[in-house]
This record gives sequence, structure tokens and C-alpha cells, in this order.
Amino acid sequence: MKKALITGITGQDGSYLSELLLEKGYEVYGIMRRKSVVDYGNVEHIKDKINFIYADMTDVISLINAMKISQADEVYNLAAQSFVATSWEQPLATADIDALGVTNMLEAIRTVKPDARFYQASTSEMFGLVQEIPQKETTPFYPRSPYGVAKLYGHWITKNYRESYNLYACSGILFNHESERRGKEFVTRKITDAVAKIKLGKLDCLELGNLDSKRDWGHSMDYVKAMWLMLQQDEPDDYVIATNETRTVREFVDAAFNCAGIEIEWNGSGINEFGKDKATGKTIVKVNPKFFRPAEVDILIGDPAKAENKLGWRREISFNELVERMVKNDIYLLSNGLEK
Ligand code: NAP
Ligand code: GDD
Repeated sequence: MKKALITGITGQDGSYLSELLLEKGYEVYGIMRRKSVVDYGNVEHIKDKINFIYADMTDVISLINAMKISQADEVYNLAAQSFVATSWEQPLATADIDALGVTNMLEAIRTVKPDARFYQASTSEMFGLVQEIPQKETTPFYPRSPYGVAKLYGHWITKNYRESYNLYACSGILFNHESERRGKEFVTRKITDAVAKIKLGKLDCLELGNLDSKRDWGHSMDYVKAMWLMLQQDEPDDYVIATNETRTVREFVDAAFNCAGIEIEWNGSGINEFGKDKATGKTIVKVNPKFFRPAEVDILIGDPAKAENKLGWRREISFNELVERMVKNDIYLLSNGLEK
């Protein structure tokens, strides 16, 4: 039985990856931060099948301990301060966790079990002010947020430990991926949660920032399969994981309201843009500059050809299915008093 250690197990990707590895017969270990109220986050439903270890990415001793306890064959480093907007409010904590935390994990592996295979959760945010469209493994990086800068360190230190110490270490450069388990501050879930609330008469209007920014959105369930595939190859390497489609935030809003039978009519422009419910004439979407970022990533669209050719990875869940699943789930949670 193979053993896997997942950092960030309580998050969106940690939960889908845990399900995938349990299905494959792995013994799954996960590191968890101590909180005042015990909270298993997205793995509450499978908590009895997981071996939890209290640890923190900023505490190398705790990661060495996690490696000693788990004796993991595969380590998936998904833990991060993952919300870009917060990285301007907490740039140092973001760097400690998302940059130095990666070195801490790599050192723990090198010290305890250097033959363990390592996956680093790199990100399309590293492309930032994009130097090429679409972005691929060879596209130069230009991060636009403290989060992107910290993740770029994590990306390079992973490559460096591979080259310096011959560790089997890979980075997945994953483009935005969402799901029913996405945190509610991220734009997709913020939208689908608001659509459910507006549909059920519990909210009047959704306030958003930059409606023009473009993202390449896939489903987390598809993306965790790529993480696993990366650790099953003969040689470690880095891969872009994306859908090769890009849409504006405004298009996501349209698609989400459509799933609830509401058609939006857009009016105005810039900070005065708003969306009306075509049927009722009520304004249900507005721009609020408070959600603008100090520096924006205008467009992301990835080319997953390398992963498709070398890993045999394929995206299975389409954009429309992703949006529909998220909207249906939020309507279900709200209708049944289950939303958090
Ligand atoms: P997420 O839902 O925000 O989960 C982040 C996880 O990291 C949570 O389990 C969180 O634990 C944990 N964590 C945060 N700080 C920690 C610390 N100091 N020590 C230990 N654990 C800590 O993120 P996600 O969407 O699943 O993303 C997974 C990884 O992929 C992240 O590294 C993210 O940056 C990266 N990524 C995500 C995307 C995407 O679109 N989703 C794209 C590219 C890359 P708590 O429950 O204690 O907060
Ligand atoms: N969160 C949020 N809230 N974003 C908004 C809003 C709003 O009200 N209005 C517009 N946006 C825009 C943001 O400015 C950004 O351009 C886009 O929507 C997506 O924002 P997020 O959903 O917060 O995601 P992100 O692209 O910044 O970061 C996510 O993807 C990265 C991969 O590219 C996160 O999952 C990162 O962890 C991940 O690395």
C-alpha cells in the first residue's frame, strides 16, 4: 500500500486529491493546522479515512515530524495562503507559507526520506503580466502579486532541489480550477453563491470588482488527476494544466445566472457598469471598486499540450458543466439550510 502525505488537505484540492488517492488504495496522511475549534474543512466527510498530523508550513520541525510519521512515498504540497487579494494585506505571511514553506517541506523530505516523490502546487499567477498567449511551460514569468512572487520562489526551489539533490520533484503550473468546494471569497463561488441567494430572494445585488479580467477555468476534480499522473512518470518534470479556453468574469456571471433561469442585461461601463434582470428590470450586479486589486492579471489562457501528450491527461468537465454544478450545489445548500 502506497503512502501519501498531503499538505493543505482541508482545502478544495486537498479534498478531491484525498478522495482520488483513497480510491486508488493509498494510505493517506494529511497535515492540519491547530485551530481553536477543530475544523476538517472539505474533508469532514472522509475524516475517518485520513491520518491527520498537526503541522504548519512555517515550522520545519513539524514537517520533519510529518515525514517521520507518514514515511510517505508521495508528498503533495497543496498548502498555501491561496487568495491573491489577501497577499497584499499579508505579504510576509504569504511569503513564509507559499515560498519558504516549500523549502521547509523539501528539507523535511531530504532529511527523512529523500526517495519520496514531491508535487509542488505552482500556479498560472506566476505568468501575471503575460508575455505570451497562450501560456506554456516555456513562457517567461512576470508575477503581479505578492502571492505570485512567493509561488515563483516555490516553483524555482522545487526545480533547484530536483537538479541539486536529484529529488523526484515536479511542479504543476495549474490554471484556475474551481468546484462546489471552492472558498466563497474566490470570484466563481462568490458569484454562484450570490446567484443562489438572489434566486431564492435572500440577496438583492452582487457586488464585484474587475469584470473584464479573463481566466482559464477548469474543475478541481480533473486537475488533481494531473497531480497524481505527474508523480507516476519515469522522470520528474513540470507541466501546465489548463483548458485552453478563456472567459471574462462578466461571462461567468452571465453563465451562472443563466443556470438559474435569469438573463442579465448589461448597462453602463467601468465603475458605473451594472447588470439588470431582463425579466424584472431590477439591478442585480454592480461594480464596487473595493474589489479592484493594486495590480491585475488581465488574461490567463494555458496550453496543456505537454500534459496531454506526455501524461495522457484530459480535462473532462466543461466550462458549462462546471458553472452548472456550482450553481445547482449552492441552490441546494441554501434551500436545505446547509450553507456555511
Ligand atoms: P485552498 O482551498 O485555499 O486550500 C489551502 C490549504 O492550505 C488549506 O487546507 C489551508 O488550511 C492550508 N494552509 C494554509 N496555510 C497553511 C500553513 N501555514 N500550514 C499548513 N497548511 C496551511 O486552496 P486550493 O484551491 O485547494 O489550492 C491548493 C493549492 O494549489 C494552493 O497551494 C494554491 O495556491 C494552488 N493553486 C490553486 C489554484 C486554484 O485555482 N485553485 C490554481 C493554481 C495553484 P486551513 O484549512 O487551515 O486554512
Ligand atoms: N475574488 C474576487 N472577488 N475576484 C474578483 C471580484 C471579486 O469580487 N471581482 C472581479 N474579480 C476578478 C479578480 O480581480 C481576478 O482578476 C479574477 O476575478 C479571479 O479572481 P479569484 O477568483 O480571486 O482568483 P485568482 O485568479 O486571483 O487566483 C486563483 O487562481 C490562481 C491561478 O491563476 C487562486 O485560486 C490562486 O490560488 C491560484 O493560484
